[in-house]
Formats: sequence, C-alpha cells, structure tokens
Amino acid sequence: MRYYPVFLDLEAKTVVIVGGGAEAAQKLRLMAKTPARIVVVTPFAGRELSAGIDSAGACLIPREFDADDLYGASLVFACGLNDADERQVHAAATERNIPVNVVDRQDRCSFLTPSIVERGSLTIAIGTEGAAPVLGQGIKAQLEAMLPPSVGSLVEKASGLRPRVARSLAKGSPRREFWRSFFFGRLRASFERDAGAGFERAVDEALSGSQGVASGSVSLVGAGPGDPDLLTLKAQRRLQDADVIVYDRLVGPGILDYARRDAERIDVGKTPGQLSVSQARINKILEHHARAGRKVVRLKGGDPYVFGHGGEEQAALVKAGIPVEVVPGITAAVGCAASIRLPLTWRGENRSITMLTGTAGDGAADHDWTALAKPGAAFSIYMGVRQAGHIQRRLLAAGIARDTPVVVVENGTRENQKTATGSIATLTRTLALGGIRGPAVIYVGLDPARSDVLAARIEVEAETADLERIAS
Ligand SMILES: C[S@@+](CC[C@H](N)C(=O)[O-])C[C@H]1O[C@@H](n2cnc3c(N)ncnc32)[C@H](O)[C@@H]1O
Repeated sequence: MRYYPVFLDLEAKTVVIVGGGAEAAQKLRLMAKTPARIVVVTPFAGRELSAGIDSAGACLIPREFDADDLYGASLVFACGLNDADERQVHAAATERNIPVNVVDRQDRCSFLTPSIVERGSLTIAIGTEGAAPVLGQGIKAQLEAMLPPSVGSLVEKASGLRPRVARSLAKGSPRREFWRSFFFGRLRASFERDAGAGFERAVDEALSGSQGVASGSVSLVGAGPGDPDLLTLKAQRRLQDADVIVYDRLVGPGILDYARRDAERIDVGKTPGQLSVSQARINKILEHHARAGRKVVRLKGGDPYVFGHGGEEQAALVKAGIPVEVVPGITAAVGCAASIRLPLTWRGENRSITMLTGTAGDGAADHDWTALAKPGAAFSIYMGVRQAGHIQRRLLAAGIARDTPVVVVENGTRENQKTATGSIATLTRTLALGGIRGPAVIYVGLDPARSDVLAARIEVEAETADLERIAS
C-alpha cells in the first residue's frame, strides 16, 4: 500500500484549485461538499465553473497562477493546465509542503482522490492507487446500489442516540445487540418503514427492554417477471438481509442468488392444477418465522399486489401483529411489454390498459365482456392460456371485431421467452401453433406494429408464407 487513506478535516482550511474548465468545475463540486474555504485561480472561468463558484461561495482570483496564491493552503488541485503551468503549481506546492494533485498526472501528485460513496456522515473512499479508476467507479456504483440513502440519516440518528444507549444498556453484548438491530435488524427495518414516530417508539421499546431487539418482520417483495436485473434495489437489499425466504414458482432463476447463503429457503410454489401449499398455510409459515425473531422475505413473481395474494398475506400478518412492509416489483404485463418493446398506451388510440385475470378459482373468470369488446379497448390477460377458448367465445359473442390484434408473451424477460401474434378470431390457434402453455400474458387490442421487434418478425413471416405459397 503506497498510498495510505486518511480522512482530512477541512473545517476552516483553504483549498486552492488552479485552472478553469470542466475538470476544475468537477473538483470544485467535490470540495464544495466540505466546509473548506475554496479559492479558484484562473483567468478563464467558463460558464459551468463560474456558476459553481457562485453556488459554492468560493473566491475567484481571475488571473494566471502565482506561487503566493498558495499562502495558507491545505490542499492544491491543478486542473487542465499546460505542462509548464502544471510544473509551476506542482513545484510551488511541493516547496511549501502542501499536498498537491495534478489531474491525470500521477507523477505530479502527492495524493490521489478516491471514488467516494457518501451517505451523510458515512463516507466510503475507494482507491486503486491510480491503476484502475474504472474499477473503482464500478465498485462505487455497486456500493451505491447496496446502501439506501436512508443509511446516512441512520448514522446521524446513531450519533445522537449514543449517550442514551450508554445510559440504558449494559456494556458488551446488550449494547452490541442493540446496535446490530439498529443497523442491520428490526430497528433498521422499522426506520425504513417509518423514520418518525414509529421508529422512535421502536427505539424506546428496545432501550426499555419491553421489546426484544430480535423480534422479526415480513417483507412482501415483488421479484419482477423473471430477469434478475429487473429486481429493485430495495428488493435486493431485503434478499441480502433475509433470514428466511418464502418463494413462489414464478420467481425467476438467479433471483434467489441475491439471498445470503445461510438463509433458509421455503418453496411454496403454486403450479396450476397441482397440489400446492394453501394460502392459510403460507400465512402460518410467515407468522411462525417472524414470531421467532427472523427477517422474512415473502418473495413473489411480478408485483405482490397484482394477482399475487399480497393483500391477503398483509391482512393476516397485520392481524397477527407482525410488522409488515411491501416492496413493489415490475408486474408481468409491464415487464413483458418492455421485453418486446410494445408500448402499453398510445396517444389518440388507447388511453387505458386494463389488467385482468382469465382464471378465478379453478375456472374461468367473468368480466364485463361488452366493455372489453368495445373498439379501442386494450387489456392484458394474466392466467389466460387455459381459459383462452372461453375468453375468445365471450369476446366474439360480445361483438369484438374479429381482427382485433392479439400479442402473447410467454416466460417474458427470461431466457426461454416466446411470443406469438394473431387476432382474437385466431386466439386459440395462435396459442396452439406457438406452443404457448404459460406463464403468459395475452395482450388484446394493442397493435403489434407499435413494437419494432414484432413488426419486423411479422414482415419476415408474411414474406416466408408468400414464398411458400409461390413454391407450392
Ligand atoms: C399468479 S399471477 C402472478 C402475477 C404477478 N404477481 C405479477 O405481478 O406479474 C401469474 C400470472 O402472471 C403472468 N406472468 C408472470 N410472470 C410472467 C412472465 N415472466 N411472462 C409472462 N407472464 C407472466 C402469467 O399470466 C401468470 O399466469
């Protein structure tokens, strides 16, 4: 380790930035986060730098650099200068023992600037000794994703709470347990749900011993339609924190890889037509683990509130007095449309899009078929493959135009994604010819030509059909 990381106190210190242009503006932005007095020396402050100087309340010396400009400085940056000017700044700083950084000239730097992740008073600095800044930035992006913005406020709360914790809890394990819960456990979960009165109450309870810091909670988490990249950051965090994950069949492969290796995984997958774990039993499993003080993630395909029994599980947990939160996910109709680049609304054509289920209980769901059959109506059907014949008959009987377009996406956003297109008159044939068995979303009333992907494929299919006709 040639470069040793330290955190400098810049309160009442002076930082000098020599040079104009974008690089100087960038250093100014960085330094403006500190309480340092900032001096910029340049005869040519561009628009961006001038605006930065104004908003940071920095002082501009509008002329060429002079060694005396470094009087009282604690740090010096040289940005975008020519070789001779860089040498001059570097020599003047070195002579005065002031740490200096000449941008993009490591041989003229006595310190390097790290990539920084900042959450209030939590600061993480990442350095690669100048060897791999892109790696440093990549790691920074990963840390940014891991650390919710609320971590900063949590650290500030911790700092205010320290004396009270010291008064209320014995040294050693009780305090350690409290802080573990505060940063990683129930108190943290409570803070993320409600940083106000709810959190204060939870802290009071933990400090007075009326509530064990280890009591559990349940997060109802939407896993999206399958592609793990479509998980939200919050969903990833909840998976990383979970002690127990109770998951469905429709949770895509690769998503559980985000969980801790030692987390317990419970498959309650529901496969249509097969014996599965009842809803009452799932509610009991969630309650049991939360009562045992575990952080439980109830992981569901798509969004928990869209045809996902999220509401029922939430009600059961609330009734049982278990803390519960909901982390939304991308629902299948939205994710599948994006994966084939099919816009769901189109100005002047459809101003609404309905999400409906084709199945209710073990049979077909009933709907207002007359409304759905109206010209301009657009809807997406979940769990509709087995009921396609019924849906087709009802819509035709209600007077829907026979050539109303149908687009089907099976296993959307996954590696085995399949699509099929047709019309309402050919719905069952389209599904059979396309070998569609589900899970699939059936879109009715959306023109496939809105999707460049589908339009190109339909054109190729039409040409192939023409060639086959000519050949025969
Ligand atoms: C019980 S519902 C769950 C819906 C889920 N909560 C959501 O918001 O997407 C299951 C139905 O969602 C649809 N579905 C879920 N994932 C899908 C995917 N990757 N591709 C196509 N359809 C999907 C299918 O219609 C499937 O039968």
